[in-house]
Amino acid sequence: MKLESLQAAEKKLLLQTYERNPYLFTGGKGVYLHDENGDAYLDLLSGIGCSALGYGHPALEAAIIEQTKKLLHTSNLFFQEHTAELALRLTEISGLDRVYLCNSGTEAWEAAMKLARAHSLMLREEGRNIGTKFIALEHSFHGRTMGSVSTTHKAKYREPFAPLIPTVDFVAFNDVAALRAAFSTDVCSILIETIQGEGGIHPVSREFFAAARELCDSTGALLIADEIQCGVGRTGKWFAYQHYGIMPDVTTLAKPIAGGVPMGAMLCTEEVAKAFHPGMHGTTFGGNPLACAAAIAVIDTIKRDAILEHITETGTYFLDRLNDLAKSKPAIKEVRGLGLMIGVELHDATLAGDIARELMEHRIIINRTSDTVLRFLPPYILEKKHVDIAVEALAELLSIHESKNTAVLAGGTTHG
Ligand SMILES: Cc1ncc(COP(=O)(O)O)c(C=O)c1O
Repeated sequence: MKLESLQAAEKKLLLQTYERNPYLFTGGKGVYLHDENGDAYLDLLSGIGCSALGYGHPALEAAIIEQTKKLLHTSNLFFQEHTAELALRLTEISGLDRVYLCNSGTEAWEAAMKLARAHSLMLREEGRNIGTKFIALEHSFHGRTMGSVSTTHKAKYREPFAPLIPTVDFVAFNDVAALRAAFSTDVCSILIETIQGEGGIHPVSREFFAAARELCDSTGALLIADEIQCGVGRTGKWFAYQHYGIMPDVTTLAKPIAGGVPMGAMLCTEEVAKAFHPGMHGTTFGGNPLACAAAIAVIDTIKRDAILEHITETGTYFLDRLNDLAKSKPAIKEVRGLGLMIGVELHDATLAGDIARELMEHRIIINRTSDTVLRFLPPYILEKKHVDIAVEALAELLSIHESKNTAVLAGGTTHG
């Protein structure tokens, strides 16, 4: 089916939950996606941070094909060949002890929220003074299910679904005094995206993260780090919290873990894991053989090919080039990021929308988040030559807009 007929069919048949861009991708190789006409697009978004190894990666393809031929699914009623193998890898790379596998980011986050409640109950049963409230941060994004969305800050995502979980307080991002003021023994958990993604690529400050750790330690509340967007190598370390040297009690991951096959995971310490018993939480598909085989291939490829080092090097190059560009382009307000998680904030939301669309027209895929931020979440295998293509295209588009503005201003002066 061609794009136009798909658009018409979807308009009639699907719930209209997405405003899709008018492109139809039917294949891909490396860091390029191909549309229905065979045109190649440089992909700097990787399906919102998922296609970590790009497209058609031989190791990932082989693992998926082999597992598909063997066995796709049996459910969590039975043991599966790869579950423990994957869990071992996840504990080794995270420094946490135990793993719960599921199918998406929001599911991982739901599991973490439920674990925080179950843990606080466990502590109360031991006679400890600890409540059930969550502290989340302003501009956070943790997903769209009822629990996750209760901790997601943006009003337009939450308000239509009220009443939500009532015991969530939002604290201003990186405001240590506000965090201390909001914290008490009523709190069962502080919830932090180590680097806010949808909120516009904002890393939590060291002071804030450390204060959250200290407060949690003072009562037994859990520090939960959402690494669904920034984890599994994206920033050049396996987890973004490893840049801070601060361990959370629980972390969540999803997007890149299985290279594009749906999967999520929640990881926690041995102590916290005691709060879940058989039957308290679960999912039919979670950790099925196909997703586990894919995730093992992703982790092993990242290790074998020294991809974390590659991300650090390419990400630093990307950030340097963007910072250089910012010096000559007043439309750029700030360049932020770590590894291959990068945001370029413009002063003007309309311009950011125009640039994102025009880059697509130049066959470079990015997106805009938080209105003014151009977001880059490329496949980990991105090379410097691709960075050059992207930065030069961005420079050219910003120059075109600048000259249009100058023309408008000049025109205004003439007529004024
Ligand atoms: C930090 C963070 N948490 C949770 C989610 C939700 O993940 P999913 O869309 O897989 O449910 C996202 C998705 O963008 C995310 O970026």
